[in-house]
Amino acid sequence: MLTSGGITSHDRAIVSSTTSPFLHFEMPRRNQSPLIILHERTGAEEAASAPPLYRQLYARLRDLILEEQLGTGDRLPSSRALARDLSISRTTVELAFDQLLAEGFIERRPGSGTFVAAILPDPPRPLPDTDHLALAESENEQGLSQQGHRLLATPLMHEQGPALPGLAPCRPGADVFPIDLWNRILARTVREQGHALQHTAPPEGDPMLRDVLAAHLARTRSVQCSPEQIVVTTSTQQALDVLARLLLDPGDPVWIEEPGYLGARTALHAAGGKLVPVPVDAEGIDIDAGRRRAPEARLAYVTPSHQYPSGVTLSIARRLDLLQWATQANAWIIEDDYDSEFRYTGRPLAPLQSIDSTGHVIYLGTFNKALFAGLRLGYAVLPPVLVRPFTRALEASAGPVSTLQQAVLSIFIADGHFVSHLRRSRERYRVRRDALLEAVETTCADLLRLGPLETGLHVCAYLPDAVSDIAVSAQAAGAGLYVPPLSACYLTPAQQSGLILGYGGTDVEAICQGMKHLAHAIRQAGRAL
Ligand SMILES: Cc1ncc(COP(=O)(O)O)c(C=O)c1O
Repeated sequence: MLTSGGITSHDRAIVSSTTSPFLHFEMPRRNQSPLIILHERTGAEEAASAPPLYRQLYARLRDLILEEQLGTGDRLPSSRALARDLSISRTTVELAFDQLLAEGFIERRPGSGTFVAAILPDPPRPLPDTDHLALAESENEQGLSQQGHRLLATPLMHEQGPALPGLAPCRPGADVFPIDLWNRILARTVREQGHALQHTAPPEGDPMLRDVLAAHLARTRSVQCSPEQIVVTTSTQQALDVLARLLLDPGDPVWIEEPGYLGARTALHAAGGKLVPVPVDAEGIDIDAGRRRAPEARLAYVTPSHQYPSGVTLSIARRLDLLQWATQANAWIIEDDYDSEFRYTGRPLAPLQSIDSTGHVIYLGTFNKALFAGLRLGYAVLPPVLVRPFTRALEASAGPVSTLQQAVLSIFIADGHFVSHLRRSRERYRVRRDALLEAVETTCADLLRLGPLETGLHVCAYLPDAVSDIAVSAQAAGAGLYVPPLSACYLTPAQQSGLILGYGGTDVEAICQGMKHLAHAIRQAGRAL
């Protein structure tokens, strides 16, 4: 039994420490001798692998309690005595005790000492092995709604890919963003706005952000809206999800571009929409084909500035035709303007939103590409009738996004940093785009034909029809490159074989290296035919 005055002379005989690298002591109870061994982190290898001493002491004491070698109500040695006998600092012992106390294994009685708690917490449950998990998944699937099953069956929304470097599409360059400036504004915002930042932002978003954004969009994109029509979201994806649930009933036909953006497909399909693939040609989505296939569609999802993934721009004639169809059919148009900030040549065409006189266009934008992917800030510019329903639906799922990030972004835009950043990053991305173009020329001009390159952070590169883009993509992954196949963007059998190549998030050297590997992967895949 451990004694009340710390460690008795008898205890001391069996509470012992050896010299480095191991420390151990034994605590006798009911003729047993629990042993504490602490691995001191002396050598470099041990320093890397052994947990800190206080964690070791905590874990050993906890195990002794769970194994009932220390019983409820037993007194522990004082921290001073333990520290002395283990030749460790008293702070280390106190840290271990604090952890045990926080988890309910011990209790401290002022003036009496430290005791094993009268009521112990449940022992930790063992982690299920993978087989259990697989079983649990299939069992859970049985309890899903039809909507749940649809969600599960929908192909993965983003072409995330693993964190493979090089040539991944649609990723902004982390080295391009002025992170120090952002951090300074963040620190200033916290200092100046203090407690106000602890409150949740209004459900539609920070009023100042909506103000400055409305002015910015009018100036740079000719988007005509009042700040009240803007609702702040985490992303285009969140806006798509909310809109799909708000505007579609199960079975409602929806036009989607073919090939098109998987994220939109995910959200629209998961909400029950009946996806109607409408082909894209050199002028963008073919409105006549859409009219033939589903004249009564409820909604059309389009990327007019820079069609994803082909890169074509929707012609002005098609824009007008699309608006005319939406007005006649009383259908909604979702205009996803995800990367038009990065236009390298010529002026962008005015967005559909700016020429829509009947309130059928919902314009979506994102800062996750223009600034950085982890920011999670986007917005919807809504026809007035949709503002309240959209805000409600947003509240029902995620609520408003971070008050602090919105406040920082407002200042970033208001002080002119956003426009400067766009100007600078356009220049950097242009250099990267040109490097990609040149690398394709020198490594595999005979194997890849590039699509339009005026805008954005990616280009669609067409392969000879006989070469499978899935095989090339798999080969490239083996070389550490993430280049999604074009065929994954088709709902119907793919019309063309190709790859989606990104250049925004990759520096010039990595682009050149990546293209060499990719050229090799294409030849390998071609040879396997
Ligand atoms: C066409 C398109 N829209 C939207 C997005 C994503 O925007 P967010 O991250 O804000 O959902 C992407 C991402 O690659 C995209 O390709």
